[in-house]
Amino acid sequence: MTMESAQTIAGPVPASAASDVSLARAVVSPHPYATQRAAELAAKAATVSPRRDTLLYLNGVTKSFDGFKAINNLSLVVAKGEMRAIIGPNGAGKTTMMDIITGKTRPDTGEVYYRGDVDLTAHDEASIAAMGIGRKFQKPTVFESQTVEDNLRLSLAGSRSIFAALFHRKDESERDAIGRILATTRLTEKRRTLAADLSHGQKQWLEIGMLLAQDPELLLVDEPVAGMTDAETAETARLLREIAQTRSVVVVEHDMHFVRELGVKVTCLHEGSVLSEGSLDAVSADPRVIEVYLGR
Ligand SMILES: Nc1ncnc2c1ncn2[C@@H]1O[C@H](COP(=O)(O)OP(=O)(O)OP(=O)(O)O)[C@@H](O)[C@H]1O
Ligand SMILES: [Mg+2]
Repeated sequence: MTMESAQTIAGPVPASAASDVSLARAVVSPHPYATQRAAELAAKAATVSPRRDTLLYLNGVTKSFDGFKAINNLSLVVAKGEMRAIIGPNGAGKTTMMDIITGKTRPDTGEVYYRGDVDLTAHDEASIAAMGIGRKFQKPTVFESQTVEDNLRLSLAGSRSIFAALFHRKDESERDAIGRILATTRLTEKRRTLAADLSHGQKQWLEIGMLLAQDPELLLVDEPVAGMTDAETAETARLLREIAQTRSVVVVEHDMHFVRELGVKVTCLHEGSVLSEGSLDAVSADPRVIEVYLGR
């Protein structure tokens, strides 16, 4: 207790305005139960609020392989509808982070939440995919001997779309969905082409289209433009920006021209943790990022 407040309580009550106020405070102090209830609500709000309005929430995540911490106290939050670019040197843990989000790898410690309250560490790969998290691996995995259209049809058949089943208009809704995905992935003209005959970039777009057939809320894309021509790379940035208008996207890339084209918030990982986060300009001016990544 300070000298001043001790005097206010212990001293005689002067007829000044100031002590009238302190007297009034003492009289209207809340009931002890109300104070306790308010404290409980505040504590509850504090535990819930950090995940509110987040689509993806990682907090203090760690994963070791034979004693080596591939992911080390990683915390990362992606908002609903956000597109985020992840950069960082080889071995930084970018792909391992995606393995953890999709249930392929289970973290040793830490929290991984989807849509605020779904604990992803309690689910397996199949159920995480069914909940709307789609993932594109580094290498395209399309059915080479099938046409572009049939690749999309196969993905739709296995999708969680209940629309067709509900309205018994499978053919029509499937045709519409395929048409929309072909347009988004710049493959309308190639619909009857065998996947084997597509360029590398077109195969990557087809695989993105196959993921869109599952109607994911969150799309994870690992190095989509590796091996693409400059024109394909620029088109992929446009394509992902379009996709990000209706869903969240996390895209890992080393190609800084491409990351600039995305025009989104950037997170740089290093040794399994976030090294720097912000606009591409801010992150690429960060001396630590220059030292471990961009300046190499
Ligand atoms: N299943 C595993 N077993 C053992 N070590 C692993 C495993 N998966 C990843 N690692 C190690 O974890 C570290 C992070 O690897 P990761 O593939 O996540 O890096 P990255 O950031 O995706 O790199 P790149 O840019 O080269 O793709 C690496 O040292 C890697 O060897
Ligand atoms: Mg990787």
